Amino acid sequence: MDSVSSNKSFARIAGVGAYLPERVVSNSDLEQSLTTTDEWIVSHTGIRQRHVVAEGQNCSDLGVEAARRALTDAEVAPEELGLVICTTCTGDYANFPGTACLIQGQLGALAAGAVDMNAACTGFPYALALGRGYCVNQQKPVLIVASEVLSRLLDWSDRSTCVLFGDGAGAVVLLPSTEPGLMDEVLGADGTNGGVLFRADGTSFETGEKRERHFLEMNGKAVFPFAVRVMERVIDELLERNHLAFDDVQHVIPHQANRRIIEAVARHMGVPLERFFLNIDCVANTSSASVPIALDDLYHSGRIHQGDLVLTVGFGAGLTFGGNLMVWRK
Ligand code: UT7
Repeated sequence: MDSVSSNKSFARIAGVGAYLPERVVSNSDLEQSLTTTDEWIVSHTGIRQRHVVAEGQNCSDLGVEAARRALTDAEVAPEELGLVICTTCTGDYANFPGTACLIQGQLGALAAGAVDMNAACTGFPYALALGRGYCVNQQKPVLIVASEVLSRLLDWSDRSTCVLFGDGAGAVVLLPSTEPGLMDEVLGADGTNGGVLFRADGTSFETGEKRERHFLEMNGKAVFPFAVRVMERVIDELLERNHLAFDDVQHVIPHQANRRIIEAVARHMGVPLERFFLNIDCVANTSSASVPIALDDLYHSGRIHQGDLVLTVGFGAGLTFGGNLMVWRK
């Protein structure tokens, strides 16, 4: 009874970290090997460059680096962690062991459970939702690492996909808290529409037949309106359920897939674009890592303040979508 009454009923983000591989590939670099232009890529997506892993550098390597930075920021030792969640769709091994286990081992977080989650680009909102539950129920620190090496899934001769993505990792540490912190989340999916964004791993999505190509495949024109619709829906639901107006929120951190998607959301909602944090120009679409990389950028550049309301929102393959609402208490 005593231990229950002394429980901290909330979870908060206590540390943030990110890591981007050193190698930068600019749009003009891509002009050398593709029929594309910097002008097309910037005007259609807002992307100017992306980071790409070196040979031999894997998802867990990026994840460990981001995790170390988040743990240092939170002043939490790896041995104190109760759970390591890795969100990724580009883990070191196709099936097992999970990348979270590799990260747990490299950190020496041996008291922690470790599990991978794959909700594609929406992985981070999903992981924050599940991580907050574990953190509060078990009263233990939780490490969430979102790490992706999309460059390994791309057909670098396909200009309609390869210009859009980049590699990177972001991480947060959750701690039990007496005050909220993480307040609410909306998670959703439309599993009837998975065929617009997938990687078949040698097997056709539609027929199950073996095929030679096994790169990421996307119908960008179909994903675009879905993205705009669900991002608006997630933001509206989070605000409505918590009796808030858009003006109460200081920062929206959206999945960085295309600047035009975010502009369309702001325009359609009739809210200022400046409230949406954008760093897609420097990092491109890093899938599930995009929201925590953006959070790291925003936080470590001193732009989030104690007590600010922060809303995350994402969408991705599945199709999946989701977002989180939090009060910033670090
Ligand atoms: O994490 C989730 C990931 N996915 C997304 O968020 C994707 C959402 N969709 C999008 O972001 C956009 O649909 C794209 C950026 C993928 C494409 O932009 P768009 O304005 O929908 O272009 P489009 O596909 O209609 O292509 C227009 C033209 C086409 O040429 P034609 O047929 O009009 O002659 C394409 O072949 O642009 C051409 N094109 C390019 N040209 C130069 C496509 N990619 C390129 C390129 N460089 N890289």
